[in-house]
Amino acid sequence: MNEFLKVAGDTAREAGAILRREFDRPKKISYKGEVDIVTESDKRSEEIIVARIKEHFPGHAIIAEEGGGVSAADGAKYCWHVDPLDGTTNFAHGYPCFAVSIGLSEDGEPIAGVVFNPVADEFFTAARGEGAYLNGQPIHVSSVETLSTSLVATGFPTHQRKRSANMNYYWEFTLRSHGVRRDGSAALDLCSVACGRFDAYWEFRLNSWDTAAGVLLVREAGGKVTAIDGAPYHLGGPSLLASNGLIHEEMKEVSELAERAGKL
Ligand code: IPD
Ligand code: CA
Ligand code: CA
Repeated sequence: MNEFLKVAGDTAREAGAILRREFDRPKKISYKGEVDIVTESDKRSEEIIVARIKEHFPGHAIIAEEGGGVSAADGAKYCWHVDPLDGTTNFAHGYPCFAVSIGLSEDGEPIAGVVFNPVADEFFTAARGEGAYLNGQPIHVSSVETLSTSLVATGFPTHQRKRSANMNYYWEFTLRSHGVRRDGSAALDLCSVACGRFDAYWEFRLNSWDTAAGVLLVREAGGKVTAIDGAPYHLGGPSLLASNGLIHEEMKEVSELAERAGKL
């Protein structure tokens, strides 16, 4: 486990340094969808990360957002989930909220994860059963007990935007909490739950590269992660609800309300 975390950590720092340097330079943007953008930096970061993982763990599978991954011969007991730049839209617009996210799963369950925000120099790490850390210091989810005194977060997909029911959820949670933030990086949103800045976070249609590291960080920091209806969360599943555990039930109830409102 130590070796997994060491390689993931060194690699995230190396890729993060590239992003940090390139953040101050003009960006070359291309479009993957209507508003789904990608920069040269996404690709450069992914190349480094995939190369390092292959070098150290040649038998492991890799799922990487920009397509540089590899499948494994052994049915992929170990699989790396790589988001080389989570928060591309922020990055491209010069908004300093983005990260490198690298998670490792064993038989589909996250066992090691690193999220690195190179602008804030915040380095989040977790290994299953060994706690969650920010810059080497243990972190814990918040102790807020009610949604009405919570700060929560969400995000919106870049694909099929008009089909997203999340606007109803955004509305219901805004009226019932201190506020809903939309920071533009799922990995950092999960880290913010893990270290108690947010009390909960939900989103739909995320990919395994967005969540593999962050989900483990939340769990290891004492929080809870499920699908939005409380069912077990699987990497790449259609919805995700992460919280400090204490407001999880309330989040679920308001989600049901939002779901019903969307169907009226
Ligand atoms: C996106 C961010 C955003 C979330 C989107 C993701 P990307 O990832 O995490 O916060 O709302 O669903 O696709 O494209 O910047 O790697
Ligand atoms: Ca992402
Ligand atoms: Ca990305």
